[in-house]
Amino acid sequence: MILVVGGAGYIGSHLVKELVETKEVVVLDNLSTGHRSLVDRRAHFVEGDLGDKAVLDKLFSNYPIEAVMHFAANSLVGESVQHPYKYYQNNVANTLTLLHSMIDHGVKNFIFSSTAATYGIPNVELIDEQQPTQPINPYGRSKLMVEQILSDFADAYDLHYVVLRYFNAAGAHESAEIGEAHDPETHLIPIILQHLLGQRPKISVFGTDYDTPDGTCIRDYIHVTDLARAHILALNALLSGEKKSATYNLGNGKGYSVKEVIDTCERVTGRKAVIEYTDRRPGDPARLVATSEKIYHELGWKAEYGLEEIIASAWKWHKKGFIGK
Ligand code: UFG
Repeated sequence: MILVVGGAGYIGSHLVKELVETKEVVVLDNLSTGHRSLVDRRAHFVEGDLGDKAVLDKLFSNYPIEAVMHFAANSLVGESVQHPYKYYQNNVANTLTLLHSMIDHGVKNFIFSSTAATYGIPNVELIDEQQPTQPINPYGRSKLMVEQILSDFADAYDLHYVVLRYFNAAGAHESAEIGEAHDPETHLIPIILQHLLGQRPKISVFGTDYDTPDGTCIRDYIHVTDLARAHILALNALLSGEKKSATYNLGNGKGYSVKEVIDTCERVTGRKAVIEYTDRRPGDPARLVATSEKIYHELGWKAEYGLEEIIASAWKWHKKGFIGK
């Protein structure tokens, strides 16, 4: 059985939907940002907090858990600058409690959701895993701290782990039964689509004077279903003993500017956006694009969905409308 912590969130719920096809799954989620209705009905569900050791100990005693996949975190860069305590408490301290309970119960396999924000401001076109990790905000630092803890736990307690550094997760499940549902929404693609549905009066483009061809920021958008597949490959590599520890980037290897993303949304939906150009948003690097060659060579993963397909799947989901919780 696999424990998915944060399985009611955006990325976690997509992983659960794939994972229940082959494994027994139990989800732990406190529903602070996740939604019970996003969790596949075939998974067991426990509402609780990953910082609560008693809840964790009970979970590990009640279920024969062979691996933990950990998606539960706060993940907004701007908020992390204003409320670092929240980020270090939830993302670092609570994860430590989870790891402590795992070790107590002899559970040795762990898959961790990390982020491109661990790299800070890169000075290369394509970021590989060897690039220095110099995060520029508490969110990125909180994720990097856990990566360092994992390395120490591997040495001391024989923990086996895979760290997955996501670039810009986007899109929705092909069924449109689950998708992105943040409140408040801050991410580019859902904001554009909500605007094109008439739910927002306009789109703000944050900064037009970056050192990029059209002056707007470039990101590497990766379909959430591609992310889910990578997790399953990583899990199988841990369970089979093929891998003891590894860190991988998960991206498409192609960068799109904010303007290009808006153009693509207009093309896919056949609707025209009202755009306002504003100042830069603090903490945004000009360009973040991954090479994911390492996971391709080691586990055979590569992204299958391009930007148009990502947007088309998100559009189907947003058009349906989602009533939370
Ligand atoms: N943007 C706009 N207008 C908006 C929203 C976003 O112009 O209304 C721009 C941002 O400035 C950025 C790009 O669109 O240049 C993408 O922004 P998102 O908020 O969608 O995503 P981020 O790249 O900021 O964040 C993502 C993940 C974070 C992670 C970060 C790493 O969501 O969890 O990448 O830098 F930390």
